[in-house]
Amino acid sequence: MLRRPRRNRKSAAIREMVEETTLTTKDFIFPLFLLEGKNRKIEVESMPGIFRLTTDLMLKEIEECLKLGIKAFDIFPVVEEKHKDKMATQSANHDFFYLKALKEIKSRFPEACIMTDVAMDPYSSDGHDGIVDENGYILNDETLDVLADMALAQAETGIDIIGPSDMMDGRVEVIRDILDDNNFENVSIMSYSAKYASAFYGPFRDALDSAPKSGDKKTYQMNPANKHEALIEAELDADEGADFLMVKPALAYLDVIHLLKENHELPIAAYNVSGEYSLIKAAAQKGWLDGERTMMESLLSIKRAGADVILSYFAKEAAVILKR
Ligand code: PBG
Repeated sequence: MLRRPRRNRKSAAIREMVEETTLTTKDFIFPLFLLEGKNRKIEVESMPGIFRLTTDLMLKEIEECLKLGIKAFDIFPVVEEKHKDKMATQSANHDFFYLKALKEIKSRFPEACIMTDVAMDPYSSDGHDGIVDENGYILNDETLDVLADMALAQAETGIDIIGPSDMMDGRVEVIRDILDDNNFENVSIMSYSAKYASAFYGPFRDALDSAPKSGDKKTYQMNPANKHEALIEAELDADEGADFLMVKPALAYLDVIHLLKENHELPIAAYNVSGEYSLIKAAAQKGWLDGERTMMESLLSIKRAGADVILSYFAKEAAVILKR
């Protein structure tokens, strides 16, 4: 036998030498759930180990993560029902706790990269990412104005990256325009380009209490059966000025991550979503899987598929392991 691939696996030293993909803490963005008020910490029942935090406790969490080498955070607001309305009014209110917290976080840790989410659902009494008309249809162009105002208000807090997660057509362009018109040309856009209508978002909707009150998100989020359509979405977002293209979820869509990486020069991000986290956590709690190894293998697979950036609830745990 002239060729024996096992020779390159015979020792840890050689295995490491020929390793093709290396996961690092620098790859991660850590999603965090922000609560209104002070000194409160509530675990997300369907996401063991993940807590909704008030600003004071989130500042401590960010400080710990920075020490571990995590430099980027994606912050989502948990909005109480009484603050929600049809037009997601609170999303652009500078007195609302989310925008105030962003400002505080950014001034405490200017070196941290702070990303925000642009979509109506956390603030919407309908639980949809856009405006819902009387027939239950999600209006596209009318929603764009709301998204643009939301993005501008977020940029005004000093954050670094805007993450439109709404899947309305044309949103990257209107966000880029309003940012540029207001001298925020240095604020980046990480567009959720190929965002699928996925059952894996369930635990996230528990965390934010943001599930749609009626209907589903299938008229705006993508059909899980499609991948060429992801190329259309990615091309539009790139043309409209996105700085990063995102695929979401990650693990069930590794082929889509690979496809976008092969077809685009922009950095590709992948969102290892809530349900993907919960699956591994639940199996590990039952003793059915080695949680730590499954986590690291999953994260590695996302990187191997072509992701340059990984948004994951595992970021902190993985950073601890990578530091060892
Ligand atoms: C909302 C939004 C969702 C997620 C991020 N932004 C849920 C949804 O579209 O219903 C999901 C994240 C996760 O599951 O971890 N626009």
